[in-house]
Amino acid sequence: MTSAAVKWMDRLPAWLEESRKQAAFGQVAAYIPELAKAPADALGISILDGAGHEIAAGDSGLTFTMQSISKVFTLLLALMDNGEEAVFRKVGMEPTGDDFNSMLKLELVEPGIPFNPLINAGAITISSLIHGATPAEKVERILAFFRELSGDSGLEIDEAVYRSESATAHRNRSLAYFLKDNEVLGEEIDVEQVLDVYFKHCSVLVTCRHLARMALVLAYNGTDPITDKPLVPRRFVQIAKTFMVSCGMYNASGEFAIHVGIPAKSGVAGGILALVPGRYGIGVVGPALNDKGNSTAGVHLLRTLSESNGWSMF
Ligand code: DON
Repeated sequence: MTSAAVKWMDRLPAWLEESRKQAAFGQVAAYIPELAKAPADALGISILDGAGHEIAAGDSGLTFTMQSISKVFTLLLALMDNGEEAVFRKVGMEPTGDDFNSMLKLELVEPGIPFNPLINAGAITISSLIHGATPAEKVERILAFFRELSGDSGLEIDEAVYRSESATAHRNRSLAYFLKDNEVLGEEIDVEQVLDVYFKHCSVLVTCRHLARMALVLAYNGTDPITDKPLVPRRFVQIAKTFMVSCGMYNASGEFAIHVGIPAKSGVAGGILALVPGRYGIGVVGPALNDKGNSTAGVHLLRTLSESNGWSMF
């Protein structure tokens, strides 16, 4: 990295400790019982550049499940499997302004398709579009794709989190059955099987470095800069990054765009995947969340980094 980069790298540990204080204003997600075990005041970050150099600070070794961050990558796989037109017959392109698990607009706004692929209703629909003869094959294809993007062939599902979500996901079940009734999930589709694929991809266990590496591929428009391997068509990465800016932090996406100004996606286990186009892939974890479902300390740290380094795209 350049000498200018070295300066902010040196300040990263102090910034992180300052941001860690924000964890006190959030709460660890408890609606998936297994997630409630996460350490509330943890905060970690990994930043990878195109040459594969990593800067890490804080609790970057903590393992956590991807949760909604996985939705960016199932969207990419669904686009690669089906093409743009088929995917956007089933999900829209607009932010909702509602909570990530809301079903309000499914009934209110015709034709009753999910507003975007990053809210739960949209991501469940996307799960139904992943190719595979059986649910197990779909999950294997998703895992293989995540492993390739993260550069780690050992990436696995956290079985305890998966079971915990599956046993308590009454709201997601309601959403999925509503989608079935609206014929967004077609006649041939088994709702429970789609949900199972969805719960499993949300439960992929990662560290900040995995997220940073996956983000790096997006930062370099679909080609892994470390291996030079093209992994995702540029057009689909463009679509995913646009959704990250408009809907990635749910109904706090506007505020995040103003304060941080880079594509990002949060998950309820406290992860945030972010990227600086053409430069860095970033993975953050801070399990204490605000009322929008985003890591309080993680958002604070990304804001500090963006303001100090002039990262905003806008
Ligand atoms: O479906 C759920 O509720 C979780 N598996 C994922 C939600 C999530 O991560 C929302 N993100 N902030």
